[in-house]
Order: sequence, then C-alpha cells, then structure tokens
Amino acid sequence: MKQSLLFLIFVSIFSISCAQTQLANYIAANPEAMRLPNTNTTNEYMPLGRFAMIQGPTSNNEAYFSSIVPRYKTYTYILVDAAGKEIARVQPYEVVEQANYTFWKIDKFHFAGLTAGQDYGIHVVEKATDNLEQSMDFRKFRSIDLNQTRFKFVVGSCQADDHRFASIRKSIWNKVVQANPDFILMNGDVVYVDSFEFVKRETKTHKTQEWEIWGRYMDSFQTLEIFRSQRLIPIIANWDDHDMGTNNSDINFSGKDHAKRVFKALFHAPDIKGVFKQGVGGVSSAYTLFGQKFIMMDARYYRQPPGTQKHPNGHLGKPQHDWIISEMNSDSLPTWLVMGDQFFQSLVEVGEGEKKKIVNETFIGDHPVQFERFLKDVKGSKSTTVFVSGDVHFSEISSVDKNFLGYPTFELTASPYHSYIFGGKNWENPRRVVATKEHNFMLVDASKHENGIKANVRAIGAGADLLFEKEITVVK
Ligand SMILES: [Fe+2]
Repeated sequence: MKQSLLFLIFVSIFSISCAQTQLANYIAANPEAMRLPNTNTTNEYMPLGRFAMIQGPTSNNEAYFSSIVPRYKTYTYILVDAAGKEIARVQPYEVVEQANYTFWKIDKFHFAGLTAGQDYGIHVVEKATDNLEQSMDFRKFRSIDLNQTRFKFVVGSCQADDHRFASIRKSIWNKVVQANPDFILMNGDVVYVDSFEFVKRETKTHKTQEWEIWGRYMDSFQTLEIFRSQRLIPIIANWDDHDMGTNNSDINFSGKDHAKRVFKALFHAPDIKGVFKQGVGGVSSAYTLFGQKFIMMDARYYRQPPGTQKHPNGHLGKPQHDWIISEMNSDSLPTWLVMGDQFFQSLVEVGEGEKKKIVNETFIGDHPVQFERFLKDVKGSKSTTVFVSGDVHFSEISSVDKNFLGYPTFELTASPYHSYIFGGKNWENPRRVVATKEHNFMLVDASKHENGIKANVRAIGAGADLLFEKEITVVK
C-alpha cells in the first residue's frame, strides 16, 4: 500500500516535470506558438484568452495588468519568455472587489525586469504550486520601447456591449489588433452603464446603485473581444458620461465614486516615474510615451450641470484645470489633450418649438468661461498641443485656427468603435477637414517634429475601407 502510494507520488512528480519540459520543447520547436496574431493575413481572427485582461501602464521594463476573475479563486500569474520558459511568478499586489454584487473580482498584478521589444507570455494558474500545464489562461504581451521616436496608436470612443453590435465589434477589434499599435486609447463610453436594457438613466427618483455600476462594468468587459485578445496591447483610458454612470453625467451624479473605483481598478496603477501619473479628482491621468505627453482630461467628475455657462470652473473643476496646466509646464514635450466631449464645437440645437433640444455636450458650448481661460493657459504653456475628443458617434478632423493658440493645430474626434450611428447629416462645422459616419477608429502614426507633432491619421472602418486619411503637422 505504502509502496504504491510512493510510486504514485513519484509518477506524478515525474509527469509534471516531464510535461513542463515537453511544453518548453514544444514551444521551442514551434516558434509560431508565440507569433503575433493577425500580422500576416487579414482573414485570420484574433485568438482570444479566457478572462478579461488589461495591460495598463507600461514602460520599457515594467508593466501593470488587471484581470477580471472568479471571486472565490486565488490566481498566480506566471511570466514566461518567448520560448515558454518561466521567468517569474507573482500574486496580485491588490485585489479590488465588490463581492456582494458580482461573481467577479479584479486582480491587479505587475511584472518588472522586462526587456523592450521582446515577446513575453502570461500563464494564469489557480494554485501557487501549479505548473504551466495547468494554466487557465495564456496571454502574450510586450513592454513599450520608449526610445522609439516614431510610434503608432489607435484612438476611438463609444464601446457598446449591446448584442446588435456583435459583428461590428468583432471586426473592429480584429482590425485594431491587426494594426499592431503601440497602444490603444479608449476615450470615453468604454462602458455604457445606463444602457437601456439593464440600468435606467439617473433621475430624481432613480438613483444609480453601486451594484448596477459594477454589474455593467463586469458584463461589458467580458463581452468586448479586445479585453480577451490573446495579444495584449497597452490600453490608456479616459471616461465620459456613460462610464461615469449616466447620460450627460456631472458633479451631482450619485454613483460617480463607485464608478471611479472600478474604472481606476481596471486601467490605473501606481505611478511609474516619468511614464504614468494619476491626476486629481476623478480619473484624470498623464502618460509620457515616446517623448510625447498624453493627458486624460476628466470632463465629468467636476462638471457642473447644463445651464452653468458662466461658471469659472464648470467643465473641469479648478484642481484639475490647475493640474493639467502644471503638467504642460513641467516640461516642453508635445502634448495630446484627450477629453471625451468635443473642445471647439458649439452646441447644436435640433427640432422646433417644444421639441427643441440640444444634442451635444462640449467644452466651448457648455462652459465657455472656463474654456477661454483654459485656452489662454494652454497657449501660455511650454507644450505644443493637439486636441483629441470622441463622444459624437462620428469621426472628424477639425482645424483649430491659430487665433486660439498662436499656431494652427487640430482636433481629432474619434467615434464610435461600436455604438449607434445617428441618421441624417452631420451637424454644421466650418472647421471640419475630413469626416466619416461609419463605425471606425483612428490609427495615428506619429513622430516628433521640431518642437511639435507630425502625424499620419487614418480612419479605419470595420470593412476593408480606409475611410479618410490626413497628414497633420503642428509646430509652435
Ligand atoms: Fe457614446
């Protein structure tokens, strides 16, 4: 009896180490197993992993991740090299959950000591002692080579999880992964908390509940293919009204701190010196990548309700306004100012008589007093600036006259990745240079040019079409 037990233990230890060697041998003999997906053929669909996983703030040598996993399991994350050899294994440095409300929790984990340009893999195992064969999930990733002077990113907004966008979603995210960008910018409406199916819009009598926010975040992240892409691509995210929790949400929205907690758990991490910094108040943040700065402006957390045009800090709040400007003066790096709603578009009114309503939300239209001061401060800063927005469910590039900042620049409005496309004509915008009303994202191929930015901007749709293309050069 005793002998057979010992034999069993011996056999199982032997088979575990055998399996490990076999796996390493297999991967060594099949370098294709670690190949980037979709880079050679447009017909191939991106391979998917099991859990929703996000590669968040990333530098040359470290990367932060968040994964959405079952609440009663404890996972260990194993870093492997391109040959499948184990390099490190870590436990989450933080677990964020709201276990009373959902079946899921958010594991936050981190790998350091990475080399830029190398492929890595992540295995997810249930027990700290499990081997790679027992992996529940496998993802590939790279750190970011910050020394590149030319880089490519994808930007868009509005990511509805509604079933009617299922096929668009699949094509759009497949194309994003095919484009192989250095990072993806998700600029607002990453989650529609108040989709009409599950959560009502907040009213005086209906306050959005914490469980409703968590439930919608967890569902949406598991539905959107990009969060299960086997090839992880670093994601930079900003929010807008629906991901803070309700349509045209503002400072008075009851659920804003619940939404902030889950949003930051998914996309933020401790600061990485010189690369990632959390901002003030809501979910603002600043990324320094490839010698350029990307500032996520939160236009919801401090926003005053409609009809407060004269408020001096109605759009961003004073603390955030000051923080953004101090970031733009801390160095002279070219800066992309990223905000959900549009900067320069005036308010658009449609309908007649009682049916008259304003259909958009913008910085200049809703809070012209703060807008004017903001532009003055941006003009006085050391940085050359390009504006990036979303929200409107079409994409356009608009020129920004040199009267505003002292040099001509542009506003790139990228929307929607996959959400409703509204019928009828685009509203009037005399500054519009190019536009599209298809589901799309912008692919921006950028480099530094003198003290400013040079970029090729393409709008790419779910089909084979290139929807528009524009070269921009912005120098002070
Ligand atoms: Fe939207």
